[in-house]
Amino acid sequence: LASTGVDLAPVAVGQRLTVVWRGKPVFINHRTAEEIKSAETVTMAELVDPQPDSARVQKPEWLIVVGICTHLGCIPLGQKTGEPRGEFGGWFCPCHGSQYDTSGRIRKGPAPTNLLVPPYTFTEEKQSRSV
Ligand code: FES
Repeated sequence: LASTGVDLAPVAVGQRLTVVWRGKPVFINHRTAEEIKSAETVTMAELVDPQPDSARVQKPEWLIVVGICTHLGCIPLGQKTGEPRGEFGGWFCPCHGSQYDTSGRIRKGPAPTNLLVPPYTFTEEKQSRSV
């Protein structure tokens, strides 16, 4: 099975990084305090695919999701500085306008489910490894 090791030490707070795992983009977001708060304070009633932020992260500061829109598979924008992140501060899919929040949850648009959380483990301080 393919695994990808990523050194998270150089990834600053607020920075987003894309790595490739099994041919798919995986978004790594070193979330800011504001992004964490915004992800944690949403009520389940507001969500299309209700999932608490705590069920989607192992450490609040690191969000790791597969960067493929759950509608028809486009790659959402928002990873690079200056790209649109949508109304919820996460990612914006340019294909049909789906918008994801800072937990990668679908908030608006046609995508039916949240961005997928891939299997991963933190192998040591500031390191992550997808398996
Ligand atoms: Fe993303 Fe359609 S593929 S909104």
